[in-house]
Amino acid sequence: PKVFYTLPDGTERVVEAAAGDSVMQTAVRNGVTGIVAQCGGELSCATCHVFVDADELAAFPAPSEDEEDMLDGTAVDREDTSRLSCQLVLADRDLHVVIADEQL
Ligand code: FES
Repeated sequence: PKVFYTLPDGTERVVEAAAGDSVMQTAVRNGVTGIVAQCGGELSCATCHVFVDADELAAFPAPSEDEEDMLDGTAVDREDTSRLSCQLVLADRDLHVVIADEQL
């Protein structure tokens, strides 16, 4: 699948991804800026905040209780489409995310 990342500066990066990888891992591996991912995917930093395309969001399992808790502490206030990108595992379909302006 392809992941379309809208960066904090408004530009778009399109990355060829692998199903089974997380949206965070895919960004870090490909040098996509804006996702800090301080904890490396351990669900303890909330610096991997993205807004997921509203139509595509439904394809993912709902956030766990731990993710919900962490989403309450993001640098940019959460919205309905907010997720922590380390918890979004890619399936074999394209995905569009907007990276939150601030992560820290
Ligand atoms: Fe730390 Fe996602 S990388 S919560």
